[in-house]
Amino acid sequence: MTLTTAQLTPVEQTALLTLYARALDSRWAHPILGDTWADDVVAQLDYDFPGLGVQTSVVCQTALRAKMLDDRVRAFVTAHPDAVVVDLGAGLDSALYRVSPPATVDWYHVDLPAVSALRPQVLPGHEQSHVVAASLADPGWCDPIPADRPTILRADGLFAFLGEPVVIDIFRRVSTHFTTGELTFNDYGGIGWISRAAIKLFPQKMFKDVGSQWGYRGFKDAQHPETWNPALHLVEEASLTREPEVDRFPAWLRIATRLSGLTRTTARKARILAYRF
Ligand SMILES: C[S@@+](CC[C@H](N)C(=O)[O-])C[C@H]1O[C@@H](n2cnc3c(N)ncnc32)[C@H](O)[C@@H]1O
Repeated sequence: MTLTTAQLTPVEQTALLTLYARALDSRWAHPILGDTWADDVVAQLDYDFPGLGVQTSVVCQTALRAKMLDDRVRAFVTAHPDAVVVDLGAGLDSALYRVSPPATVDWYHVDLPAVSALRPQVLPGHEQSHVVAASLADPGWCDPIPADRPTILRADGLFAFLGEPVVIDIFRRVSTHFTTGELTFNDYGGIGWISRAAIKLFPQKMFKDVGSQWGYRGFKDAQHPETWNPALHLVEEASLTREPEVDRFPAWLRIATRLSGLTRTTARKARILAYRF
C-alpha cells in the first residue's frame, strides 16, 4: 500500500523532485551518491514521479551537491562528536542515514508541517533524528533545537523558495541562537531578472504552482552574506563543475559541465558555500 501525497502544498512537493533525482541516481550502475533510501521512499509514495520529467542534468547535480554537503557534515561531526546537525528544508532527504554520524550527534530536520509529518512514515526510525515542523519564516523555528553545542546547518535546494528577507533572517538567526558552528548550502550565484522572469512565466511542471514564491535574487560575491551578518565568515566556495564526480556524468554533460567550470561567472552557478560563526 502506498501513502498519499495529496496533503503536500506545492512548495512541499518540491521535496519529491530532489528525492526522485536521488532515487534515479541510486539506480545507475555507477551512482554519484548511491542513496538507496531515496528509492525506498519513492516506492512508498503515491505520486506520479516519472511525470516530473526529471532530466539527467538534474539527477547529476542533485546527487553531487548532496554528496558535497554530506562530506562537509561528515567532517564537522568527526571533529565535533557532540555536534548538532540542522537540515533546513530537509524534505524527505535521508542524509542522516548516508552520513551515519557518531551516536552522540543529534540531527534536526526542519520543514513545513505536511512534509514533516510524512518523514517518520517513510523513513526508518532513528534515535538521533528529531523533526521540527515549522516554517523558516517563523522566527521561533530554532527554539526546540539545543543552542549550546557545535552546530552545522545544511540547506539543500532550499533558499530559492524563500524571499530574500527570510533568507537574511536565517543568516542572522543562526549566530544569535547557536553558539558556534557552520552554515553550508548549495547556491546558484546571482539570479538575474531574466532568469527569474523566465521561471515565473515558463515554469517547469511542478514549479508552476510555486513560481510566485520564487523571489530570491541570490548573490554573486560569496562574501555578500557577511554584510548581512558580520559574525559569519566565508570559509569555502566550491564549484560543482570542478568536482571529480563530474567524470561520472554522461559524456555530453561532463563536457558542458567542465566547460562551465572554466569561468568564474559560470562556475558559481552551481556551488557549495560554507560560513563559520
Ligand atoms: C527542493 S526541496 C529540497 C528538500 C531537501 N532538502 C532535499 O534535498 O530533498 C525544498 C524544501 O524546502 C522546504 N521549504 C520551503 N519553504 C520553507 C519554509 N518556509 N520553511 C521550511 N521549509 C521550507 C519545502 O517544504 C521542501 O521540502
